[in-house]
Amino acid sequence: MTLFKMGQFELSHRVVLAPLTRCRSYGNVPQPHAAVYYSQRATKGGLLIAEATGVSATAQGYPATPGIWTHEQVEAWKPIVDAVHRKGAIFFCQIWHVGRVSRNELQPNGEAPISSTDKQTSPAAVSKTEYSKPRRLRTDEIPGIVDDFRRAARNAIVAGFDGVEIHGAHGYLLEQFMKDSANDRDDEYGGSLENRCRFAVEVIGAVVGEVGAHRVGIRLSPFADYMECVDSDPVALGHYMVQQLNRHEGFLYCHMVEPRMAIVDGRRQIPHRLLPFRKAFNGTFIAAGGYDREEGNKVVAEGYTDLVAYGRIFLANPDLPRRFELDAPLNKYDRSTFYTQDPVVGYTDYPFLEDDSSNDVSSTQA
Ligand SMILES: Cc1cc2nc3c(=O)[nH]c(=O)nc-3n(C[C@H](O)[C@H](O)[C@H](O)COP(=O)(O)O)c2cc1C
Repeated sequence: MTLFKMGQFELSHRVVLAPLTRCRSYGNVPQPHAAVYYSQRATKGGLLIAEATGVSATAQGYPATPGIWTHEQVEAWKPIVDAVHRKGAIFFCQIWHVGRVSRNELQPNGEAPISSTDKQTSPAAVSKTEYSKPRRLRTDEIPGIVDDFRRAARNAIVAGFDGVEIHGAHGYLLEQFMKDSANDRDDEYGGSLENRCRFAVEVIGAVVGEVGAHRVGIRLSPFADYMECVDSDPVALGHYMVQQLNRHEGFLYCHMVEPRMAIVDGRRQIPHRLLPFRKAFNGTFIAAGGYDREEGNKVVAEGYTDLVAYGRIFLANPDLPRRFELDAPLNKYDRSTFYTQDPVVGYTDYPFLEDDSSNDVSSTQA
C-alpha cells in the first residue's frame, strides 16, 4: 500500500475500482442498492470509478444503466456519492454515450441510435444482442452532443462526485469518431487523425471548461477492437490523444486499457503496451486490463503506471485492497450475474473476509 497524490487527491493506495456497468439502475435512475455496492468497495483514500453513466436520453444502449441528465437522476446519485464519501473514498463518474451500440427500443420515440456513421454494428458475439442501424449525425448536430457531455459533467459535480471520467473507450461514441474502421465521414469530423479525434477533443475541452481540468480524467482503449471499432494505427491515435490531454494544464488522469491478453508459452499475459503513452502524459496514469495483485504491484514498482484499475476481481471482492494487503485468497467472479438486474445477487452479496468489520454497511445505506 503506497500513498499517491493524484492532483489534489491524496490516495492511500493504488487499487482503483474500474468502471463496471451493472444494469441495476431501473428506469435509468440509480437505486439505493448502489449505495451499498459502492460503499462496500470504498476505502479511505481509495479511488472508485462509477459505472458508465449516460449523458442524455440517446446515450443508452443497455437496459437499466444509470443516467445523469435529469434532475431525478442527479438527486438519486447524491446519497450514493455520500455513502462512498463517508468511507473516505474518492468517487468519479464515468460519463458515456453508446452511439450506435444501441437499439431503437432504447432510444427516445424508437428512433435510430446516433453515430459518426450509418454503418451498423454486427450482433454481439456472446449475447447475440442485435444493434439497430444508426443514423449518421449531421455536422451541425455535433455541438449539441458535446454540450450533453458538458452538462453531464456539471450534473456529476452537483451530485457530489469528485470528478468525471470521459468514456473514450470500447467502441462507444467517442471511438466511433476516433477509429478509422468506424468513421467514414467526409466533413471536418472524419478523414485525417486530427479530424477523427475532433469530436473527442471538443468533448474534453467542453468538460474541462465546465468543471476544471483538475477534476477530469479520460478512459481510452486505442488497441481495443470492441464493437467493430478498430484503428489502423493505434499507437499514433494514442499519442495524438495524449498530446491533446497535455494541452489542458492539470488534466487529472489518463486511464488506458491494455490490448487483449496474449497467450505466451501457453500462459495468458498482459501485453504491456502502454508505457510510451504513460511517458508522454503529464498527469496521473491508470492502467487496466487483466491485472492481479502480483502484476499490479510489479507495474507500479517499475513505474509503468501510477495506479491500476481492477474490474472483475474488484466486482467479486468488495474488500479487494484489504485482500491484496494481506495477500488473502480471492472470491471468484460469477460471469452469469455480471449484467443481471437483481439488486443483491451477483452485486452486493460477494463475501468479505470474515474478520473484516468493514462488511457492516448498515450505516452507509441510503
Ligand atoms: C461486468 C463488466 C462491466 C463493465 N463495464 C464497463 C463500463 O461501464 N465502462 C468501462 O469503461 N469499462 C467497463 N468494463 C471493462 C472494465 O472496466 C475493465 O476494463 C475490464 O473488465 C478489464 O479489466 P479486468 O481484467 O480487471 O476485469 C466492464 C467490464 C465488466 C466485466
